[in-house]
Amino acid sequence: MKLPSRPQDKIIIALDVPDTDGALRLLDSLGETPALCKIGLELFTAEGPSVVKAIRSRGSAVFLDLKFHDIPNTVAHAVRSAAGLGVAMTTLHASGGPMMMEAAAKAASEEGGRDLLLLAVTVLTSMDTLQLASTGIDVDPEAQVLRLAGLAHQSGISGIVCSPKEIQSARASFGEGLRIVTPGVRPIWAAAGDQKRIMTPRDAVQAGADWLVIGRPITAADHPKEAYARVVAELA
Ligand code: C5P
Repeated sequence: MKLPSRPQDKIIIALDVPDTDGALRLLDSLGETPALCKIGLELFTAEGPSVVKAIRSRGSAVFLDLKFHDIPNTVAHAVRSAAGLGVAMTTLHASGGPMMMEAAAKAASEEGGRDLLLLAVTVLTSMDTLQLASTGIDVDPEAQVLRLAGLAHQSGISGIVCSPKEIQSARASFGEGLRIVTPGVRPIWAAAGDQKRIMTPRDAVQAGADWLVIGRPITAADHPKEAYARVVAELA
């Protein structure tokens, strides 16, 4: 997948709504068609492939964020199915290990998937040192992010999802070729809400993010169109 050149194309709008009607209303409220929209577990579980079709027919590319984590064969087939839906990006958990990631990368490339960007989710931003330790991982989240990013890189996965705070060290370790997508983006004027490891859109791009996943600062704003335009202006 080609890197975005225009500032607005760096923004991935998170469609965190329960159904297709809500997703389409949200798109209408933005005033312009986003280059990329993220469909996650809630919306996809409710609506299935038809919601991917509906968003694509509005002119947006789709980031299907289903965070696959299973045995290599199952994940490889899930990646094939995602490629068949014509999505631009999809996710899998790097903690599924190198065999799983290699199988997924192979499936993506075989499925005419040169355009399908596979992203490895490193450490969920909901995990802190204590949560990690309770699962037997006795290192701090940043060290674990870098470890999993390295594993993904070696397994032929082109990109990662990480919090804004880890972008710089991931860039420094794995170079410009690594695609980096980050959530946890909050303009100064927006409420942080439940996001903790946050950065402004401009700072996240300066730190090296290729794409920013933005939900509530735009989608839950009183005037989504204005909030969207404001973020784009900050990135320009
Ligand atoms: O509304 P907000 O901007 O917080 O939305 C961020 C989006 O990114 C949500 O869809 C959320 O599920 C997702 N996400 C996240 N943190 C991660 C991975 C995904 O916030 N580590």
